[in-house]
Amino acid sequence: MTQTTADSPARRQRAQIKERTLRTDPWWRYPLITFIIFMAFLVYATWAIFDTSYFMAPYHAPFASPCLATSCPEGARLFGFAPFGDWYTLPPGLLILGLPAGFRFTCYYYRKAYYRGFWLSPPACAVNEPHKKYTGESRFPLILQNVHRYFFYAAIVVGLILAYDAVKALIEKPDGLGTWILIVNAILINLYSLSCHSCRHITAGRLNHFSKHPVRYRAWNVVSKLNAKHQELALVSMFSVMGADLYVRLVAKGIIAFSFA
Ligand code: FES
Repeated sequence: MTQTTADSPARRQRAQIKERTLRTDPWWRYPLITFIIFMAFLVYATWAIFDTSYFMAPYHAPFASPCLATSCPEGARLFGFAPFGDWYTLPPGLLILGLPAGFRFTCYYYRKAYYRGFWLSPPACAVNEPHKKYTGESRFPLILQNVHRYFFYAAIVVGLILAYDAVKALIEKPDGLGTWILIVNAILINLYSLSCHSCRHITAGRLNHFSKHPVRYRAWNVVSKLNAKHQELALVSMFSVMGADLYVRLVAKGIIAFSFA
């Protein structure tokens, strides 16, 4: 049997088929819908980052939380903390954008989805791709996707801050619709983070005997159940963060009422 190495031609390209595909089902739906949904999210996120109406006490738009700039309104600052001085005049959301964005960009689910929907690499199983060369994720630049585990730690911190925003809103305005929108969003964001494959590895990676680590075994069981729903949580939390963010901005702009309660 011939062995393939990392540099052998067999490893540098995918299996080639003459037909574009032999599939007869509407395989193009998944990459097309993925492309439309992700593009909508990217367009919204870009608008939100540069929109200045991100705060209406006690609500804080998730895309701009934590607010770390001096330009943030007093109540919007995390514990009154504003480490960036007057010299920082760009939108506050830009300061933290890289953490949740990096987490989602390097997520295993999103990778699969945008490799198919945006790069068509491949567009679907058993469908020929337009690219001539394939080097996988073992080389630059895609090897950088391995930083995902570090983004996971940052995502846990961001998730806790969103939970803090939700609890703060609950204390200050328990009957507000926005309060419950922020609470649901914080729960979904944190469930998505905890369902991460890196989190599952942290709970039980490198263990040889579960019997000697009962706490980690229990944690692994919980995270594994969440992990089985990772794709769903990735999508639902994406919609929830977009919806919560839009709600707070519309309230802050005075377009909708502060509370329906
Ligand atoms: S694998 Fe999706 S968030 Fe970690």
